[in-house]
Amino acid sequence: MQQQFNYDVLIIGSGAAGLSLALQLPKDKKVAVISKRELNAGSSWRAQGGIAAVLDPADSVESHIQDTIVAGANLGNPKAIRFTVENAKQSINWLIDQQVPFTEETADSSGYHLTQEGGHSHRRIIHAADRTGLAVSETLINRAQEADNIDLLTHKVAVDLITNAKSGLPGNRCIGAYILDQQSGHVDAYHAQAVALATGGASKVYLYTSNSDGSSGDGIAMAWRAGCRVANMEFNQFHPTCLYHPKAKSFLISEAVRGEGGKLLLANGEPFMQRFDERLELAPRDIVARAIDHEMKRLGDDCVYLDISHRGKAFILEHFPTIYQRCLEYGIDISQDPIPVVPAAHYTCGGVITNEQGLTDIDGLYAIGETAFTGLHGANRLASNSLLECFVYAQSAAQHMVANWQPNADINDINAWDESQVTDSDEDVILSHNWDELRRFMWDYVGIVRTNKRLTRAQHRVDLLLGEINEFYSNYRVTSDLVELRNLAVVASLIIASARQRKESRGLHYTLDYPHSANVARNTILTPPNYLWN
Ligand code: FAD
Ligand code: SIN
Repeated sequence: MQQQFNYDVLIIGSGAAGLSLALQLPKDKKVAVISKRELNAGSSWRAQGGIAAVLDPADSVESHIQDTIVAGANLGNPKAIRFTVENAKQSINWLIDQQVPFTEETADSSGYHLTQEGGHSHRRIIHAADRTGLAVSETLINRAQEADNIDLLTHKVAVDLITNAKSGLPGNRCIGAYILDQQSGHVDAYHAQAVALATGGASKVYLYTSNSDGSSGDGIAMAWRAGCRVANMEFNQFHPTCLYHPKAKSFLISEAVRGEGGKLLLANGEPFMQRFDERLELAPRDIVARAIDHEMKRLGDDCVYLDISHRGKAFILEHFPTIYQRCLEYGIDISQDPIPVVPAAHYTCGGVITNEQGLTDIDGLYAIGETAFTGLHGANRLASNSLLECFVYAQSAAQHMVANWQPNADINDINAWDESQVTDSDEDVILSHNWDELRRFMWDYVGIVRTNKRLTRAQHRVDLLLGEINEFYSNYRVTSDLVELRNLAVVASLIIASARQRKESRGLHYTLDYPHSANVARNTILTPPNYLWN
């Protein structure tokens, strides 16, 4: 039977962004944090390298700002960058207060070991060995489980947002969400005074990715359908180094491996980064990923190699225990042998447009973490700025919610989910087929190197798929697979539309038809048909 639930704050997503927001809200607010899979299903859990912050007295806020601007190919919003970088230290202190076990280094003036990653001109990445995400997530989950005001709810899939407009009420406000309970199979209505999308990115739209299966851009698609604008969806970051092995599904080899001296090599042992950028292996990610893609295509090779063996086994075991162990399981001893690597889709730089407080175009609706577009990343995200963005904006969103607390529509005003017109599907093969087709053409046509022709082809394919998927959605009962496929198709169409609008190459968007950057850097802003202009 369908049910109704009432919360003060509904947070969709249990990653770094969602959990931090929940923990920063006052204890008198009743909070639900929902996750469509287990609590540890998102990207946060997988994060390896660490969190960027100025913690060394020899480093400076101005330098971190400058590195972020340069990596973002001059498209980042200087105000958002300064806001994030200036709040970084405070966020790290908050994490330390929550008892995150960061790796310590007594020789370091900050007290913690700081590693180096591409695009950073200083060592400024605080980390917990090579499993920072796990350390942060476990700690935050523990704290949330201890809090009486927070309900952590798993296997609940948000299908769509509930707005005043959808409920026939006046105003432009979000008042909850429809949520599929995977156990009962019913879609329940969750009513809340404030709703936060913390649903992570959309890298699953590509065939090869470092992300887990749930990165299907649900928050971006839901916000778009509800009437929010999105920006810069063409900037999909490909991480240069994911393990290349037939049995290794989406395992990342952290950029910190290059930060600690790892060299990129061709199959014959020849280094090649010197031909692409004077910063060599520590050039920003877009440059390194394109260089690898170029060499693989030029030589017809399946991968390149990353060699850290010269640092010796003791160093490798201390700094990269997870990567060492995982590679060993696939028969690669990284203290002896180079690691076969390929680029894979890693991070969604664009997203739902928000202000400095995480507020979207709809009152009461916030977006934080990878699902949001704050303006921080510009055309390419600087390594380890993503977790940082989760923490900084979780805090500002929490403060804004509390300062602008407004009672919403009554729970009785919300319409129950209508499933009177639908039946159970007997053709789920359509879902798996469309899922595969979508991710393959996105990889082939909207990947690291683009052209007008490829983008037009992708547009035709996605239009066809959207038609089929929407028909399926109207006729059959929702399942989590259908929800994700529908959202992936929406996000793919937003990526393609944004890429087609950008008549230049900049950062992660590289097209053979316009190989140079325009003189003026502009964001690509897409406006949904139901956007309410003020
Ligand atoms: P996620 O952690 O992805 O969480 C999303 C949550 O939303 C999940 O709980 C998911 O179940 C839930 N969800 C999604 N859709 C729905 C729905 N419809 N209904 C209900 N729940 C839903 N960044 C760094 O800064 N430093 C790093 O070292 C680093 N390493 C990385 C390594 C890997 C392998 C990957 C993949 C990413 C890495 N990143 C790193 C990027 C960073 O981890 C992510 O950008 C960040 O963790 C995103 O956090 P989030 O809270 O926004 O989303
Ligand atoms: C990594 O460890 O290479 C990932 C860092 C990031 O995505 O910022």
